[in-house]
Amino acid sequence: MEILKTKSLMQEWARAKKKNSKTISFVPTMGYLHQGHISLLEKGKPLCDELVLSIFVNPSQFGPNEDLDAYPTDMENDLRLAEAAGVTAVFLPQKQDIYPQDYQTRISLDSLPHHLCGKCRPVHFGGVATVVTKLFNIVMPDVAIFGKKDYQQFQIIRRMTLDLDFDIEILGGEIVREPDGLAMSSRNAYLTADQRESALSLSRSVRKAAQAVARGEKNPGVIQTEITAFIQSFPQTSIDYISFCDPATLEPVKIIDKQILVALAVRVGKTRLIDNLLIDPPR
Ligand code: PAJ
Repeated sequence: MEILKTKSLMQEWARAKKKNSKTISFVPTMGYLHQGHISLLEKGKPLCDELVLSIFVNPSQFGPNEDLDAYPTDMENDLRLAEAAGVTAVFLPQKQDIYPQDYQTRISLDSLPHHLCGKCRPVHFGGVATVVTKLFNIVMPDVAIFGKKDYQQFQIIRRMTLDLDFDIEILGGEIVREPDGLAMSSRNAYLTADQRESALSLSRSVRKAAQAVARGEKNPGVIQTEITAFIQSFPQTSIDYISFCDPATLEPVKIIDKQILVALAVRVGKTRLIDNLLIDPPR
């Protein structure tokens, strides 16, 4: 496994592979790897000759009061997991290499970033779209894999790739959960034992929504009221949003008569967690 710490070394490596007609699968991450990340590497591994993992805690996607400085890291463990997953190159750029002092360009999308998490994280998706564009240009992948845990991010990257004519296939990986249902996240490391209990309210809520739809409930407002009370019954929770929306446009739906996405963000203590589920109404 090659460890490439600069943009130019990464580009040189990718160019050499391309010259030899090798294809590249790519999984971008911010590190502190868990099974959710590994599942994306496992998905990418058989698809191409090479498998690239990037680890970069991207400052441009964090707002001023977010957890950029506290973001967990464990490089030794990450490299061990990457090697075991069959990664052939790890890209570990430095901040100044990606955003030199005179840097000024940012990608923006019209409507997708304004729903769900974009409402309370106004700079987030512009930062994600920008860094992913840069990573695509540096790593030159044929296939890139993103987790549906960050469903809005996945849709934004798909849209951007189409809109900007990147010749890259974007694939989605299913959400990997802990045995009790909690969606795996690097941020779960922030939770105390009590908060870990309250964090279960997210996965249980999306399951409750699915059960309500299966019972024939078509009114998102009714389900939202039920889930709100349910989450509020757990200590230290505060709801950022609960949304019933169109899976492609992320626009809220008024009636559940086709597949919907239920997505929610909840603060547990100071930790902001997200979860989502695609739900089909009964036939
Ligand atoms: P990060 O949060 O490290 O996640 C990296 C990738 O792992 C993302 O595609 C995310 O959706 C996926 N992922 C995280 N938890 C998952 C889970 N439980 N199941 C399945 N996939 C999961 O997302 C980012 O980093 C950044 O925004 C990035 C795309 C790297 C740009 O900076």
